[in-house]
Amino acid sequence: MIISSTTDYRAAAQKRLPPFLFHYIDGGAYAEKTLGRNVSDLADVALRQRVLKDMSKLDTSIELFGEKLALPVALSPVGLTGMYARRGEVQAAMAADKKGIPFTLSTVSVCPIEEVAPKIKRPMWFQLYVLKDRGFMKNALERAQAAGVSTLVFTVDMPVPGARYRDAHSGMSGPNAAMRRYLQAVTHPHWALDVGLMGRPHTLGNISTYLGKNVSLEDYMGYLGANFDPSISWSDLEWIRDFWKGPMVIKGILDPEDAKDAVRFGADGIIVSNHGGRQLDGVLSSARALPAIADAVKGQIKILADSGIRNGLDIVRMLALGADCTMIGRAFIYALAADGGAGVSNLLDLLEKEMRVAMTLTSVKNVSEITGNLLVKEG
Ligand SMILES: Cc1cc2nc3c(=O)[nH]c(=O)nc-3n(C[C@H](O)[C@H](O)[C@H](O)COP(=O)(O)O)c2cc1C
Repeated sequence: MIISSTTDYRAAAQKRLPPFLFHYIDGGAYAEKTLGRNVSDLADVALRQRVLKDMSKLDTSIELFGEKLALPVALSPVGLTGMYARRGEVQAAMAADKKGIPFTLSTVSVCPIEEVAPKIKRPMWFQLYVLKDRGFMKNALERAQAAGVSTLVFTVDMPVPGARYRDAHSGMSGPNAAMRRYLQAVTHPHWALDVGLMGRPHTLGNISTYLGKNVSLEDYMGYLGANFDPSISWSDLEWIRDFWKGPMVIKGILDPEDAKDAVRFGADGIIVSNHGGRQLDGVLSSARALPAIADAVKGQIKILADSGIRNGLDIVRMLALGADCTMIGRAFIYALAADGGAGVSNLLDLLEKEMRVAMTLTSVKNVSEITGNLLVKEG
């Protein structure tokens, strides 16, 4: 199979994965309108082509939270990554490390913090959800600190799980789910051998370590429903801000007023995100939400953005709309599912090449020159 883009990796991932996993990754909430607009609104952003400015030397690196990033990109936290490839969190983290960008481990990863952090040279980022069990949160923060995690990503757009219709149909949840997943696994032998057999244990590593007993995939959807905390508010985050010594980034901001609250709260960064269209369908795409947020808080707090980035040109577009750094979710997960760590490495190389093309043809020599000036002003 010829691989030249995220689209190709998506097709390869669909072939390799049992449908319940492919649709869990690929799907969004309700009618998936926001999921679609994340991609199409970004693709519609027109940039000014500028030429003949000697673009032989480009610098794609940035400094963020005291770290040097080879690209203005970090890997977004993605739950169950170890189900898409054998010990998938380790493979993705190593690929990100090789490229010189951060990997963010999800709370609901298969591999626990202690398995991933020692495998990479640069400090890992860790994403925390608000769970009813505050004991778990404290334990996870202590373990993250002990493992040398640099940046805490605190996700706030999942006080309740979104309604994802595909999951009920695919076997991720719904009637006879376990039997349906088993049948899908045996008809996808590459995955069954690589992940199903060799990639064990299939547990939520961070939570199992805390509870001292395995929380399996079987329990996953129930666990999310039972443990996410809809009562959360800014004041609940204060002890975390006081406890956590490193940078703290709030993920899931889509409104300028919430962005201002994050500044008042004392966060180091925000991630403009709608969770990849997986939570509330119909909310703005990140590309459309970002300019107003940048108007409100740019310069006061670091602005990261994800949801909809599929290529290197999209990265430049997101920066031109006001982000200081971008993050990618599905793009790296499709590559990981298709070809493990090698797939993620190749995808990151593709993104860099495409970014360089976009920088050359918009005549910007470094990332700080990617501003609203690059945007074609309509009318
Ligand atoms: C399969 C899947 C699982 C995810 N799990 C998490 C998670 O555990 N924590 C989190 O903060 N975000 C999670 N997200 C959201 C991503 O971090 C990110 O915001 C989103 O994927 C960005 O959109 P994109 O996929 O269009 O790049 C998940 C996304 C996907 C696709």
